[in-house]
Amino acid sequence: MTETLKGSRILLGVCGGIAAYKACELTRGLRELGAEVQVLMTVAAQQFVTPMTFQALSGRPVRSDLWDPLAEAAMGHIELARFAEHMVIAPASADCLARLAHGLASDLLSTVCLASAAPLSIAPAMNQQMWRHPATKANLAQLLQRGVRCIGPETGAQACGDHGPGRMAEPSQIIADLLAQRAQARVLAGRRILISAGPTYEDIDPARFIGNRSSGRMGFAIAAAAAAMGAETTLIAGPVALATPAGARRIDVRSAAEMHAAVLSEVGANEVFIAAAAVADYRPSTPQSRKIKRTAQALELSLIPNPDIVAAVAALPNRPLVVGFAAETEDLLVHARSKLERKHLDLICANQIGVAGTGFECDDNQLTLLWPGGERALAPAPKTELARALLLEIAARLAQRGR
Ligand code: C5P
Repeated sequence: MTETLKGSRILLGVCGGIAAYKACELTRGLRELGAEVQVLMTVAAQQFVTPMTFQALSGRPVRSDLWDPLAEAAMGHIELARFAEHMVIAPASADCLARLAHGLASDLLSTVCLASAAPLSIAPAMNQQMWRHPATKANLAQLLQRGVRCIGPETGAQACGDHGPGRMAEPSQIIADLLAQRAQARVLAGRRILISAGPTYEDIDPARFIGNRSSGRMGFAIAAAAAAMGAETTLIAGPVALATPAGARRIDVRSAAEMHAAVLSEVGANEVFIAAAAVADYRPSTPQSRKIKRTAQALELSLIPNPDIVAAVAALPNRPLVVGFAAETEDLLVHARSKLERKHLDLICANQIGVAGTGFECDDNQLTLLWPGGERALAPAPKTELARALLLEIAARLAQRGR
């Protein structure tokens, strides 16, 4: 069967930048695959391409002004937002990323983005220095956390004469990504997935705790991807500073004991449990109700083991498919396989830590999946990408088991 976007209603936002000319080809490609395309241009975009070009290619009048009484009477900005089954912004300028990240509604495109619950893909294009700026990086990280998909940018020669990252992804790549998303959108439809994420904090006294460096980003990326693939997703989160992914139900906990109780009370309804949390192995045996005072003496802290949550779930009589994580600094695969066996998991994701740029507190990661009798290394990628690869693997297993 040839791939198609027949019947899908795509809202294409075009920002001001020289890459706007590529959005013409994108509009044409989307129409050729059967999509209905409504183009929204920013004021700056019209400095590069005329609305007439997009009108001719999309077969619909282009919208650009939030305050156009005639256009608003025909299809108001809220109706535009409802029209969209998928929103694509290509090219997405640095200014656009900033507006989206901060939820501004200062022009038609940003207002429609704020008013729409449709999945959003962005294809950034900008000068390499703007792309590398910490402000842009922070804005992008914020958007990725919320489940926005970023396609590109590519590295190469730039219109301004620079060389570096910031060229807009090719229209064919954007279309391929939309096709893949459409194919994956229902892969986990009707499935119920429980995910634990983040660290746990084990209180010593009212002021101190034992924690760890887990940021929760991997688990949150898995929850975002699971919801985007149609799963009914429950996320049990330790203390993290992350936005709840669209479509996921979130339960906040603090300690391993609280996480243990929440997981056991929720797990019965789920077909999959993904333990991405970095649960503290020990907790203080007697947390103090008053702040411990400094003295000249050495202080001994007595620690007792926490329950092993994932092992407890794997030991349930009617267990779901159980997926764990192993974060290790050395002998990664050996330790991961031994955890897989010891905890009776169906799958484990081995995760190298202690190497700059992957593992804890960053957006990229490198995972190897291990299961009884096999393993598969996934190419290093952003956590959002790895989350999707992991869930596709899980979907295949659920289908195989005839669950
Ligand atoms: O801490 P460890 O490396 O053994 O964690 C491996 C896996 O076990 C992870 O999936 C983690 O979420 C899970 N785990 C757990 N309860 C614990 C310790 C770890 O569910 N108390």
